[in-house]
Amino acid sequence: MKITVVGSGYVGLVTGTCLAEVGNHVLCLDVDPAKIATLQQGGIPIYEPGLEDMVRRNVAAGRLSFSTDIAATVAFGEIQFIAVGTPPDEDGSADLQYVLAAARNIGLHMTEPKVVVDKSTVPVGTADKVKAQIAATLAERGADIAFSVVSNPEFLKEGAAIEDFMKPDRIVVGAEDERAIELMRRLYAPFQRNHDRILFMDVRSAELTKYAANAMLATRISFMNELANLAEDLGADIELVRRGIGSDPRIGYHFLYPGAGYGGSCFPKDVKALVASGREQGHAMRVLTAVEEANEAQKRRLVDKLVKRFGEDLQGRHFAIWGLAFKPNTDDMREASSRVIVAELARRGATVAAYDPVAAEEARRVMGDTPGLGFADDMMAALQGADALLIVTEWKMFRAPDFDAIKASLKQPVIIDGRNMYDPAWLRELGFDYQAIGR
Ligand SMILES: NC(=O)c1ccc[n+]([C@@H]2O[C@H](COP(=O)([O-])OP(=O)(O)OC[C@H]3O[C@@H](n4cnc5c(N)ncnc54)[C@H](O)[C@@H]3O)[C@@H](O)[C@H]2O)c1
Repeated sequence: MKITVVGSGYVGLVTGTCLAEVGNHVLCLDVDPAKIATLQQGGIPIYEPGLEDMVRRNVAAGRLSFSTDIAATVAFGEIQFIAVGTPPDEDGSADLQYVLAAARNIGLHMTEPKVVVDKSTVPVGTADKVKAQIAATLAERGADIAFSVVSNPEFLKEGAAIEDFMKPDRIVVGAEDERAIELMRRLYAPFQRNHDRILFMDVRSAELTKYAANAMLATRISFMNELANLAEDLGADIELVRRGIGSDPRIGYHFLYPGAGYGGSCFPKDVKALVASGREQGHAMRVLTAVEEANEAQKRRLVDKLVKRFGEDLQGRHFAIWGLAFKPNTDDMREASSRVIVAELARRGATVAAYDPVAAEEARRVMGDTPGLGFADDMMAALQGADALLIVTEWKMFRAPDFDAIKASLKQPVIIDGRNMYDPAWLRELGFDYQAIGR
């Protein structure tokens, strides 16, 4: 098939590349000329394990290319994926300007029938808006060309995006016309050879499914974070409690990890957008409002612990931070807890030496001008002369560090671990003041 992907970010680039990998011809569009230039020169603009090789292989095979030429990309694909960003608007609702701009471009340039697929995470009713936008643009041109709009939300996780796309748990497709349903069935057949994973449904249910999934996962995290904070005061160990409840098949082990709050480009904005959708319909969405509030507080939890240890005024204090990305295996800094922590430490007059194996460059771009923030080239160098080490992202390389060397580098043997990486009893035995979450 010939496929166009509009928006070549985390989702668009992975989608386009994986579709090319199974034999389709894919043209990816972006409005950011720097991004397209990087891709055309054989680089990739984001960090995603395995993606660079796959992009190269498919470009070399002539199945994958990149462009900023809107008319050419609209002409190319029978299927037009929309994978542009849907950031939060001022009131928390999803800002649809990029989705609707993409729809307008399709309406402006199409000369033959198209199936337009919303892959961006969008509120219920967006497919109708996309349809109306294309129809209005065609009418302006006096053109009468058939098209349909499908909802196909994406469930990939950054850091494991290729694996998730190639071997999906499920593929949700909201479509109402037979031709589009058949096309989507054929498109996804190579990704579900072992058993059928496509769930066909109406468009509105498909749109809501994506928000429901992210909201449920965010809820589990905030629930565990609140429970962890309580466990600290009650003298219980949340890690034991986690195992105790995860073993119940009705609960399961996934997404029960307490920590320094959830971040990233999806959970925070999707929870906000679902609360906003509820508000518009007169539903208070009380659970999700609390989920968000608990998460905001949790992002400050490590600083609260520092303040308890060192006092309100952190002037003259120096701290090391391991991990800046919102989670391991990505360079994505959107809504990362580290941003809140670094800003709060700066506000209190402390200086920071931060280390992240992948996200340092992106971190420099988004918060490099924070007073007192410096970046270290390796994890041990970050520790030199620090009053404490804060662990914010659970990169694998932090799992079994040389604790003697850590102790020798730190000014005081204090570790505030926002991801529960170590055994508290052992760390205490080694002479650390070790504080984790809920233990
Ligand atoms: N990142 C994830 O892990 C993930 C997972 C599932 C779903 N989603 C959803 O997918 C969507 C995209 O997310 P992302 O993380 O890939 O965003 P992103 O910011 O990485 O990429 C979006 C890209 O779209 C481009 N763009 C904007 N307007 C355009 C236009 N009119 N034409 C062409 N290109 C345009 C931007 O320049 C940018 O490169 C969002 O709705 C997000 O919620 C993201």
